[in-house]
Amino acid sequence: MILLDKKFPNIFKDKKNIYTKSLDKKTYFEERTKREGKNVYREWDPKRSKLAAGLIKGISQIGFKEGSIVLYLGASHGYTVSFVSDIIGKNGFIFAIDIAPQVTRDLVRLAEERNNIAPILANCNHPEEYKDTVSKSDIVYQDIAQKNQVQIFLKNCDAYLNSGGFGLLALKARSMDVTKKPKDLFKQVMKELEEKISVVDYRVLDPYEKDHALFIVKKK
Ligand SMILES: C[S@@+](CC[C@H](N)C(=O)[O-])C[C@H]1O[C@@H](n2cnc3c(N)ncnc32)[C@H](O)[C@@H]1O
Repeated sequence: MILLDKKFPNIFKDKKNIYTKSLDKKTYFEERTKREGKNVYREWDPKRSKLAAGLIKGISQIGFKEGSIVLYLGASHGYTVSFVSDIIGKNGFIFAIDIAPQVTRDLVRLAEERNNIAPILANCNHPEEYKDTVSKSDIVYQDIAQKNQVQIFLKNCDAYLNSGGFGLLALKARSMDVTKKPKDLFKQVMKELEEKISVVDYRVLDPYEKDHALFIVKKK
């Protein structure tokens, strides 16, 4: 039986898996679903989404709720975006950015079906590029495998995160430095983040995503 997760708005769970309730009763990816009454619950795979992996690993807060405005950096084909779209609902909105035209095409198809997603082709390393397209947001979520991913995240939080808002950084250690142990890099990143913004929690995402961690920050 699927039950609402008491800690996280609009996220559901059973004994093994987590789910969101499909906003439009449709599914967009190859995914397992469960039907209860008129509702369609989409199983959220922690091996395909770092946000789902963070939730399964027991992250204490993520900030997403009904009506949240989200700046999503590294949207790719839109797998995680589609679950965030379910969580924030019809009154929320996602500015979904990616640099790669091939994946953005899939994102456009998703956005044609969902009114709460705007796909944007841009480089997150240059936040000024999209200053006329995106608004200040309640959440900045970043999942891009770049060497300077921490600096990109901080620049975007600085420019677009509302005060009191949450930033979520899905970090890939190997993209930053292949010579360093992921554990040491995570410590270094924690220090770098703490110099600029308050870190409220983090989780290493193994075994779902090898050498990745999810950091949660909150802007004062
Ligand atoms: C790991 S994938 C994201 C997966 C996605 N977040 C999900 O969970 O469904 C990383 C994405 O970041 C994008 N990316 C990398 N560097 C970028 C940049 N500077 N600006 C925007 N997107 C970037 C890549 O094109 C790729 O689609």
